[in-house]
Amino acid sequence: MNYLKLDHKYVWHPYNALPSKNKILPVKKTFEQTIVLENNKELTDAMSSWWSAIHGYNHPFLLKALKKQSKIMPHVMFGGLTHEPASLLCKKLANLTKLPSVFLVDSGSVAVEVALKTAILYQKAKGKDVSKFIALKNAYHGDTLGCMGVCDPKNSMHSLYGDYLPKNIFTSISNLKQTIKKYKNEVAGVIVEPIVQGAGGMKIHSPQYLKIARKLCTKYDLVLIADEIATGFGHTGKMFACEHANITPDIMTVGKSLTGGMMTLSAMCTLKNISDTISNSEIGVLMHGPTFMGNALACAVANASIDLLLKSPWEKRVQNIERTFKKELESLKNLDIVKDVRCIGAIGVVELKCDGISQEQGQKYAQTIQDICIDYGVWIRPFGKLVYSIVAYTITNDELIKITNAIKKAVEKIDDARTK
Ligand SMILES: Cc1ncc(COP(=O)(O)O)c(C=O)c1O
Repeated sequence: MNYLKLDHKYVWHPYNALPSKNKILPVKKTFEQTIVLENNKELTDAMSSWWSAIHGYNHPFLLKALKKQSKIMPHVMFGGLTHEPASLLCKKLANLTKLPSVFLVDSGSVAVEVALKTAILYQKAKGKDVSKFIALKNAYHGDTLGCMGVCDPKNSMHSLYGDYLPKNIFTSISNLKQTIKKYKNEVAGVIVEPIVQGAGGMKIHSPQYLKIARKLCTKYDLVLIADEIATGFGHTGKMFACEHANITPDIMTVGKSLTGGMMTLSAMCTLKNISDTISNSEIGVLMHGPTFMGNALACAVANASIDLLLKSPWEKRVQNIERTFKKELESLKNLDIVKDVRCIGAIGVVELKCDGISQEQGQKYAQTIQDICIDYGVWIRPFGKLVYSIVAYTITNDELIKITNAIKKAVEKIDDARTK
């Protein structure tokens, strides 16, 4: 059956129209770091499925855990019931994050929603009636309405939803200190992506702002939320990016690679003081409870993924990836079209100069880059002026060089076309 026809007719893809405005490739199967298309073309994956497949695809250790759990109990409601995979996972997350009160949910955006709700309830429980947050320019925290409210209003979708979105306070990293001091009585907390701002611009920052945020949030009893959904589980070279600043946030959100990219699962981890303050107050409970909270299959796979990560030489692997990205992509800085090349951990970013170029032209660049990379046997999905790769830690050196070569060829071609 040609399911592409069905896709064209019925399936609404992310950040897209129906039918899709750009090419949709049919995938037959995956293995290791490879996506196999229906025409049997094999693509080396430069995206690790949006920062999630850290062990590559179809890892036998994760599949074994999935299979084992599927025979015992795929899912049971979490209201009033519990099970071993969820309890073990919460203990693991508590140990890793140093935040022992864990709330399991089903996607990254929902984890951020729960984090925001928890921060508001904590302040309410302490008699402070506030519901605003300080967030950063270029921030991205997810696509649900509460999350969009803490995404940078300029480069996100705020204008589409008008008054429906909560109003928050945005600041640059350099003004964070002054902003916290100014608004400390009006906000419940501060939300940041530590070290790497992802979908809002793929920016890499030095750790100082995290130290400032930590110090001032402690001083004024504001809740510091570190959104580690993208950065968590090793992507920046540390297990969590907050470790670059040697800080522990009050709340941490994790998702994406929590299950090694196999199942949808995320978590909000917080301090005992925060869960106690809410639980022992008049409010008494955290009013949130998704149907698929604590899904047993997802928890079993997450437990396997964390075990697999911890027993692997992941730090060394990520260091090697960073070294290769830096070495191979550096030369692109000499091209007219390239504004910046930046790399950290398993993340390599090439930012193009798109000043004075229409959004349509920018999208054409992105499509051209994707097409060229596919010709070279590499799957990449640039957005706007950002060509970036986040790879599985299990990637081989040859595969990584194939990715950086494809990126180089594609960007050089755009540069050629522009300078002609
Ligand atoms: C930092 C950050 N927070 C939240 C999210 C939302 O996660 P999800 O797409 O699983 O809802 C993302 C997704 O890219 C993210 O990068």
